[in-house]
Amino acid sequence: MIHKTVNIPPLRHLAIIMDGNGRWAEARGLPRVAGHQQGVRTVVEIVDECVLQQISYLTLFAFSSENWGRPEAEVETLMALLLEFLASQRQRMLQDGVRLRVIGDRERLSVKVRNALDSAEQETLSGDKLMLTLALSYGGRDEIVRAARRLARKVAAGELAPEEIGATEFNANLDTAGVPDPDLLIRTSGELRISNFLLWQLAYAELYFVDAYWPDFGPVELRLALESYRQRRRRFGLTAEQTAEGEGLSNSAS
Ligand code: IPE
Ligand code: IPE
Ligand code: MG
Repeated sequence: MIHKTVNIPPLRHLAIIMDGNGRWAEARGLPRVAGHQQGVRTVVEIVDECVLQQISYLTLFAFSSENWGRPEAEVETLMALLLEFLASQRQRMLQDGVRLRVIGDRERLSVKVRNALDSAEQETLSGDKLMLTLALSYGGRDEIVRAARRLARKVAAGELAPEEIGATEFNANLDTAGVPDPDLLIRTSGELRISNFLLWQLAYAELYFVDAYWPDFGPVELRLALESYRQRRRRFGLTAEQTAEGEGLSNSAS
């Protein structure tokens, strides 16, 4: 088969809303926690596949600011699974050149979880194949508000003039500072919404919704999503004619 390569935009940053763990378990008559356990296995597989596919940035929505409202037992299970994941994957991340980073409101996490995240981030600092960002205790609106507060503090301290605040300065004060905007967003489980994920950063992302619950999403499903992305034509507000000229060179809005 002959592939036309000229129009294939590079995918640098993939973002995923990992949804449907609970329904996966309920469909099997299992407790929700079984779905979360299976979901962690999917995370390991997908991280591997992203390294294979030479994707540079993977951001996973693991726990939202709204998820704090779930029953205490479920929240505790999710935090325990996170600690287990960090302990069991540390070696593998180091071997595979994966750098871990966390975005979200860390203040709400327990000291134990915070410490485990801090040390995983420190230990994997030199990973240069894939930056794996976990969105934990994360909400897009919350992140934007915290960025606005940081900027306001700088203005109040006389370090920054209000006129200097533009998209670049704003970006630099978000939790995702230094990371390019997602090229593709995948949401599993058939829900067609963003649920407060990366509100600012998804401005020009391509969207891909799939019915599979997260525990059933694997490398094959990921490749289908990547294939769909390759068929897209990103225009960033320009005309098709204008963007055709630059295709294959740059596809990032940031
Ligand atoms: C996604 O699965 C994982 C988290 C939100 C932590 P859910 O737990 O939301 O599963 P459903 O949507 O209830 O099936
Ligand atoms: C979004 O899933 C958050 C994560 C995947 C961590 P939710 O299950 O919390 O979203 P809603 O409630 O269906 O919008
Ligand atoms: Mg859900």
